[in-house]
Amino acid sequence: MTAFDLDSLQHDLQAKNPRTILKSALASFDNIAISFSGAEDVVLIDMAVQIKPDIQVFSLDTGRLHPETYQFIERVRKHYGICIELLSPDRDSLESFVKEKGLFSFYEEGHQPCCGIRKVEPLKRKLSQLDAWITGQRKDQNQDTRGDIPEVQLDNAFSAPDKSLIKFNPLLNWSSAQVWDYIEAYQVPFNSLHQHGFVSIGCEPCTRPVLPNQHERAGRWWWEDAAKKECGLHSGNLKK
Ligand code: ADX
Ligand code: SF4
Repeated sequence: MTAFDLDSLQHDLQAKNPRTILKSALASFDNIAISFSGAEDVVLIDMAVQIKPDIQVFSLDTGRLHPETYQFIERVRKHYGICIELLSPDRDSLESFVKEKGLFSFYEEGHQPCCGIRKVEPLKRKLSQLDAWITGQRKDQNQDTRGDIPEVQLDNAFSAPDKSLIKFNPLLNWSSAQVWDYIEAYQVPFNSLHQHGFVSIGCEPCTRPVLPNQHERAGRWWWEDAAKKECGLHSGNLKK
């Protein structure tokens, strides 16, 4: 896809609803996959299977997810009859990292090195095999880092020198309330942690429930500055 095509696709998709964006993404690319976190981004799968029943879905199995998230991923796999590819970190890098830094270094040294090994490297490996990917990022999750994301974009963080990678964000303009209306209206399965005060869900040691009226990202890497709360999957969002 040329830069010109991308611009016109973005122009066509601007402010469109998630299903329209998904349809266009799946029509434009065969070699495309949904990046599923095991949380409320399940709505992407619910919409996508109706358009393409054998949609490719992958999830980054950091080894540190909640038991409830693993159970949920399995439930989603069976519910939709889809294959969910679970991506593991590189064994050698992980073993030497844990040997040197222990299991909870992120509380003292920040989350980037651990996320780098457990999330970013496996994601990079997967994305190198794809032409495009679909994420559940929303602007309302973090105005600082996600307030400007477009419907479709060139993924500057993960494109290879010889191959452009395209990234679709179909839920970008939906609020959390809209996502939950959809889940309720269409009886979509959801992660049981959402019934226990968890809103945004990541790895177990780096996620906690939030209080009423607290922002959802307050429960993620709560010991760090809000403007830096991107683990590297969407580092293209970080303002230089
Ligand atoms: S994160 O970067 O802070 O961890 P967040 O939890 O908000 O991301 O999720 C935003 C989107 O990133 C998800 O909808 C999903 O597309 C992708 N994502 C996040 N975590 C994972 C994961 N463990 N596996 C696959 N995709 C993920
Ligand atoms: Fe490691 Fe926490 Fe990042 Fe998970 S979210 S990869 S446990 S630093």
